[in-house]
Amino acid sequence: MAEGLDPLARTALWTASMRAREHGRDDRLFDEPLAGLLATDDGPKIMRGFEGEVQRGVEDPALAVRTRFFDDAMVDAARGGVRQLVLVAAGMDTRGYRLRWPESTVLFELDRPALLELKASLLASASAKPSCAVRPVGVDLLSDWTTSLVTAGFKQTEPTLWLVEGLFYFLSAHERDTLLKEITALSAAGSRLLADYVTQTSLDGPGMRIWREKMAASGHPWKSGCDDPEGLFGAQGWSIRVSAYGSPEADYGRWAHAVIEPGVTATRGRYLISAVLDGSAV
Ligand SMILES: C[S@@+](CC[C@H](N)C(=O)[O-])C[C@H]1O[C@@H](n2cnc3c(N)ncnc32)[C@H](O)[C@@H]1O
Repeated sequence: MAEGLDPLARTALWTASMRAREHGRDDRLFDEPLAGLLATDDGPKIMRGFEGEVQRGVEDPALAVRTRFFDDAMVDAARGGVRQLVLVAAGMDTRGYRLRWPESTVLFELDRPALLELKASLLASASAKPSCAVRPVGVDLLSDWTTSLVTAGFKQTEPTLWLVEGLFYFLSAHERDTLLKEITALSAAGSRLLADYVTQTSLDGPGMRIWREKMAASGHPWKSGCDDPEGLFGAQGWSIRVSAYGSPEADYGRWAHAVIEPGVTATRGRYLISAVLDGSAV
């Protein structure tokens, strides 16, 4: 079923599988009832492969923490009046189904056409009902995707919440910069941007060597990080707050209690970005 997906698209099955596992926990940080279906049979295999070979069997709490962090920030943006959401590289994300949105909210999902087609058929098989207007838009984010988004009804005059989750490190620095410029050009004042990323220093360091080798061997290498996200986003007019995993706002009682050995992935310099355009307070 997932055979037609390219290696990078298949990482969406992996993250869905981690969300499904989180959904099964008594102390779960969010509900994600559709994740198991969307992970397909392949997601758990990819997840277990990485955990076994790279993480010595340790579960990485980052996915659960980042999901909850972004859930809270998106709901907060909606409370603040944002009605247009764009999931950039949406993968098998179901926030348009599992979170409650104000009436008139429109959520665009950008990803590879094959991935979105598989997702649509799986959701239809479960008779899943969205909680706002969900508009999947099949694109290549390294090509002209903005025309397709505007054609799908995106309004450049409205403040937008952009979520770039699980993507930046798969792009080269040049591709990341181009994508950020394109997002910024479409963003009205007051738009927000959420993303996760990693420092270039940790990416280049010995602690991530095995991770990077395995990612590259699987056909989806991590290509870039950034040691100065304030400078990177600030140059485009975004005012940002950077939250390291395990900081008070990005812990949820999960990070501190994770059993992380030296060299295991959770020790990487990964962080979460919350940004607002035009220098408004974050
Ligand atoms: C790790 S998954 C993240 C999915 C989702 N945001 C999540 O956190 O579960 C990476 C996603 O990026 C998408 N992606 C990567 N490069 C892309 C491109 N050039 N065009 C469209 N989608 C792309 C893949 O198809 C995949 O769904």
